[in-house]
Amino acid sequence: MSEFHRAPAARTQPHRRTVLQTAAGLVLAWMTPISASQDPKEARPAIGDWLVRKDDASLIPLTPDDVPFDGRALLAWPLASKGDILRNGSPNNTIVLARLNPSSLSAFTRTLAVDDVVAYSAICTHSGCEVDDTLGDSHTLFCSCHGSIFDPRDGGAAIGGPAPRPLPSLPLKLVEGRLVVAAPFTAEPGFGF
Ligand code: FES
Repeated sequence: MSEFHRAPAARTQPHRRTVLQTAAGLVLAWMTPISASQDPKEARPAIGDWLVRKDDASLIPLTPDDVPFDGRALLAWPLASKGDILRNGSPNNTIVLARLNPSSLSAFTRTLAVDDVVAYSAICTHSGCEVDDTLGDSHTLFCSCHGSIFDPRDGGAAIGGPAPRPLPSLPLKLVEGRLVVAAPFTAEPGFGF
């Protein structure tokens, strides 16, 4: 067979490949679920998000000094950095901030904190209640639903009650004096897995 006769077959290969790629893309698109996480209000805290006080309509980004140093914690939501997306569309985005003596923090927790402020998922890993906003003299976080206790000085470790795993940590950094998300949660917040 001459080159002339072979040429049309060679020309059709890229076309066939394009058709196959298109078909594969359609199958992938069909298989990809349209999940709620595509809504930015439900997306987990992202690097650069500010933190604002939960249920505070003023949406003023928090500074370390806004976190009490008197045995109370502070519940917060992430606010996307342009200030126009409050990520309150998922209860699993609720964050608890605590201010603790830096010398009491474990080496791991110190790497995630801003000075003396630490942040965790506020959702109890037992059955999904919100942890209480009182640290008390024990400097621990308590879930009053079934009595789980977490240690915010040590990676949110579950140290009492039925909770099976730590509260996920939310790494922080300071940008222009404000508390800012430095990295995603160290684990998926919530319960039941
Ligand atoms: Fe927190 Fe059960 S939901 S201890």
